[in-house]
Amino acid sequence: MSKTKTKFICSECGYESLRWLGRCPECEAWNSFSEELVEDDKLKNRSLKKQTVKATQLKDIVSAEEDRIKTNIDEFDRVLGGGLMPGSIVLIGGDPGIGKSTLVMQAASKIKDKVLYVTGEESNRQVKLRASRLKVDSENFYMLAETEMDNVIYTMQELNPSVVIIDSIQTMYRSELDNAPGTITQIRECTAQIMQLAKSTHQIVILIGHVTKEGMIAGPKVLEHVVDTVLQFEGERNHSYRILRAQKNRFGSTNEIGIFEMHDNGLTEVSNPSEIFLSERDHQSTGSSVTSSMEGTRPILLEVQALVTPSNFGNPQRVATGFDYRRLSILLAVLEKRAGLKLSSANVFLNMAGGVKIDEPAVDLAVCCSIASSLLDRNIKSNYVVIGEVGLGGEVRSIGQIEKRIQEAEKLGFEAIIIPKNNFKSVQGKKNIKIVPVDNIHSAINTVLQ
Ligand SMILES: Nc1ncnc2c1ncn2[C@@H]1O[C@H](COP(=O)(O)OP(=O)(O)OP(=O)(O)O)[C@@H](O)[C@H]1O
Ligand SMILES: [Mg+2]
Repeated sequence: MSKTKTKFICSECGYESLRWLGRCPECEAWNSFSEELVEDDKLKNRSLKKQTVKATQLKDIVSAEEDRIKTNIDEFDRVLGGGLMPGSIVLIGGDPGIGKSTLVMQAASKIKDKVLYVTGEESNRQVKLRASRLKVDSENFYMLAETEMDNVIYTMQELNPSVVIIDSIQTMYRSELDNAPGTITQIRECTAQIMQLAKSTHQIVILIGHVTKEGMIAGPKVLEHVVDTVLQFEGERNHSYRILRAQKNRFGSTNEIGIFEMHDNGLTEVSNPSEIFLSERDHQSTGSSVTSSMEGTRPILLEVQALVTPSNFGNPQRVATGFDYRRLSILLAVLEKRAGLKLSSANVFLNMAGGVKIDEPAVDLAVCCSIASSLLDRNIKSNYVVIGEVGLGGEVRSIGQIEKRIQEAEKLGFEAIIIPKNNFKSVQGKKNIKIVPVDNIHSAINTVLQ
């Protein structure tokens, strides 16, 4: 009979200790230990048995990109890297009520193969109610309201679906363990069990995970290491837009984002995000410029807003939303030194409108123009798009994917686009948009301000 004892496990890295520790000696995370029951290690003292496993030559392994199973929701497939890879485990995290179950249910109904939806949070009838609201009706959609892992595994073997959805991993438990569902040990063991089966049968598993108050996926950090793909479903509660973002992807880029809009009858794809991000722009206000950022393979036009106010006391405030704070500090120093703008005693607030986070240097020039516009109280020409990286010498440096960005600006009817001088050579063909090359921030600001 196996005995159990308590141990303390770090939720960040899985480090085990016999007593509670304030800081993990392994990963140095604070306050990350929680008490767990663990079974006595039966594996200790085991001698090496003669095994029959055999390594395979890489060239003998067959795998093809075409094996991917499409969810037939373009925004979802693109974030996944082109569809679901057989044998892979996808973890989707997100705030309560953001629409995780809705997203996977809509995807499940569009998948052509057999899908098993395991719900540990709602009853079959509640799921049916949602399915009716979303008008989900598919022959290949199987439901199981279950939380005990053995039953899930049994159903997976019996039914042999191509895709299994576990909603959510925190509600699942293994009865051999004395821990409560949702504890680190349970989450880890349930995932390990399901993964073992999925890797051998090539079934795809989509796990839904809760998110803690800090915005991390609840459960051990190791969970994010063992799964193949980690997706975050985010959005503002008061906005209907939802963004699906890859944090980790073994089978695709992590730069792609999927944009959705939540309606009464479910999520709809937003295939023209630029129009949405620019829809609420006020053409008459100072400090607002339009730039283009590449999100994966797609250029997205968005508004950069800046507000510069005089600071009456002490240290001026600098606040950046959706933009790196340190990068803002650098750009302010460049503007002060190279463009002669007096910013050292001004409060500067910067906002990427629409709640997006941008970490691309191509938006630097737009940030500089918005700040200059607000400081000088002069409007930016409303039909201009501004792109370019800004160097410490105040020079405007070249950026990638210039053609795509110009095309997007052209498509949305902009009159002109300001681009780095060095990119000008590579712009081909006749355009319906005026292209203005600039080589330093001084000339960019002079060109763009009214
Ligand atoms: N009857 C309804 N009409 C309109 N929208 C609804 C309706 N019911 C739910 N919704 C929308 O769906 C959202 C909940 O979706 P869903 O249950 O998929 O979220 P979830 O992320 O799975 O939540 P949980 O963390 O509780 O499992 C709600 O926040 C709301 O926006
Ligand atoms: Mg749910």
